Amino acid sequence: MREILIPSIIARSQKELEERIHKLSPIKPTYMHLDVMDGTFVKRTSLGFPFIVPKSYACEAHLMVRNPKGWLVKNHTQIDSFIVHYESETHLHECIKLAKHYKKKIGVALNPETDDEDSTQYLKLIDKVLIMTVHPGKYGSPFLPEMLEKIQHIRKLAPKLDIEVDGGVTPETLKLCKRVGANQFVVGSYLQNASDIKVAWNKLKNSLV
Ligand code: DX5
Ligand code: ZN
Repeated sequence: MREILIPSIIARSQKELEERIHKLSPIKPTYMHLDVMDGTFVKRTSLGFPFIVPKSYACEAHLMVRNPKGWLVKNHTQIDSFIVHYESETHLHECIKLAKHYKKKIGVALNPETDDEDSTQYLKLIDKVLIMTVHPGKYGSPFLPEMLEKIQHIRKLAPKLDIEVDGGVTPETLKLCKRVGANQFVVGSYLQNASDIKVAWNKLKNSLV
């Protein structure tokens, strides 16, 4: 399975978005993971304003919002793939249909407390599953090792599906997640807080091999 590292961005203004993208520029990531928060589904807000991302980046939007459909309709032109939460209040089938209508990829995210059994009905309809390995809402929350079992279970059910992990990813936790079947790794504070981002990126890449 193809393994990739995806830096994440939380931003409350265009200025902050640009600063965070600038911080990533030495490592030239292929993909970026944009964390969208509405202040309701999770406490904080991020990317709720009209924003612009440089066209040179492929972006996935992680929609930690109550109404993912609204955000998807408004912003689909700048985004290549969407991840909606199983726990959001919209019918997932409608979001999946809408993303496909715009010819975008679609994934479903599971919060730590969501039982993976409930969500298996979607596995055949989507491009990826995102397992939250922290309680969502901010950079720097502690990694939840209990999620390793969930990753392993989903990998058994869907041997070829992309499984992304999000939250608390460091070179050490990446290895643990990879060992149980994850193949895409979202990284926030480990990169954003790095004093030398190239060194941090290389450490992550070394953990992939
Ligand atoms: C958190 C977001 C994550 C976050 C990861 O709820 O969904 O994508 O940016 O940040 P770290 O890697 O610091 O946990
Ligand atoms: Zn995220």
